[in-house]
Amino acid sequence: MKTPTRICFLTLLLAILCHGYSSRAEAQSQLAATPPMGWNSWNHFADKVDDAGVRAAADAMVASGMKAAGYTYVNIDDTWEGTRDANGNIQTNKKFPDMKALADYVHAKGLKIGIYSSPGPKTCAGFEGSYQHEVQDANTYAAWGIDYLKYDLCSFTRTMREAHTSDNGHQLMLDAYTKMHNALVATGRPIVLSLCQYGWQDVWKWGPSVGGNLWRTTGDIEDNYERMANIGFGQLNLAKYAGPGHWNDPDMLEVGNGGMTADEYRTHMSLWAILAAPLLAGNDLTKMTPETIAMLTNRDVIAIDQNPAGHQGDRISALGMTEDWGRPLADGSWAVGIFNRKDAPAEGVLRFEALGLKGRVHVRDVWAAKDLGAMEHEYRAQIPAHAVILLRISK
Ligand code: GLA
Repeated sequence: MKTPTRICFLTLLLAILCHGYSSRAEAQSQLAATPPMGWNSWNHFADKVDDAGVRAAADAMVASGMKAAGYTYVNIDDTWEGTRDANGNIQTNKKFPDMKALADYVHAKGLKIGIYSSPGPKTCAGFEGSYQHEVQDANTYAAWGIDYLKYDLCSFTRTMREAHTSDNGHQLMLDAYTKMHNALVATGRPIVLSLCQYGWQDVWKWGPSVGGNLWRTTGDIEDNYERMANIGFGQLNLAKYAGPGHWNDPDMLEVGNGGMTADEYRTHMSLWAILAAPLLAGNDLTKMTPETIAMLTNRDVIAIDQNPAGHQGDRISALGMTEDWGRPLADGSWAVGIFNRKDAPAEGVLRFEALGLKGRVHVRDVWAAKDLGAMEHEYRAQIPAHAVILLRISK
């Protein structure tokens, strides 16, 4: 080939490669058009998660009706990792004899499978992280058939501290997330990227720029009302950062784990739906009461969470310990939760004009599955301790 021809050829090749990469990167950003729904092993099983447990979760997701309600991802959290082989390839530990076979099993049920790693040398539970093996690990995940990666900062904070100035540390973190994003995109397999760094350094402002489809906005949730409420009601002013393909993540669900009352779990589900939060069940799906299944699969609550307009909600008003949180929906209606955070019953009020709605509105009580008819000015009700009334309000 003559030199000019060769230059032309190389330019063309580069253009084709770049185009391929950017359309894959675009596909990546469109992966989570609505907040991801599924299950994650950590809240209930922690380090006890194993191959049989993940298969059982997938089976139960189908049998319980959760799959039909929209739950899709079966996510393995920390403690699946083994050591690296002589070529540096990550291997599973004894609990997961064959990750590819496990992914095939989950896929055969029409579900997707997720995995977990860290940009640091070690994960939060002290297992092998992806530090300096990002491309290799992304390729391994793609070869196994992984569809979702939770990438948890953990020991990378040490690398950041060693950068001496906080600005350098911050940049190192952005670079680390971008590196994994690029490596995932380069595999050609659509893999949702879930950032986990506990909401530090206003992650919602830069999460999309490093390829995050969702990012944790807080530290870890626990199965008690105080922690759940602190996290959920702490999500003020974050609405503008969420939207299709990129979501605020106030952490996984605790519904069904036993540490809260039914009212408190309904508060948890309602708040997460208004926040357009990922709905990742964190309980043992093989041992659910009918009440837990009913809560997790309530179609009207899920429809609020998954509303295609993708507008995250926010607090509309607060009166003492009762708070109204709401989000506008694609059809012009509103979903509003009137939450009583007190330890005793309290009266909750919603003034419709706070939603910009004048005149008569139609009100539906979502959890009661009951149309309350037409109303004017306001809705008022007695709300039990730690409970919610979730309304859908339309003109
Ligand atoms: C961190 C995360 C949790 C979980 C554990 C696993 O604490 O925030 O969600 O992934 O690590 O070790």
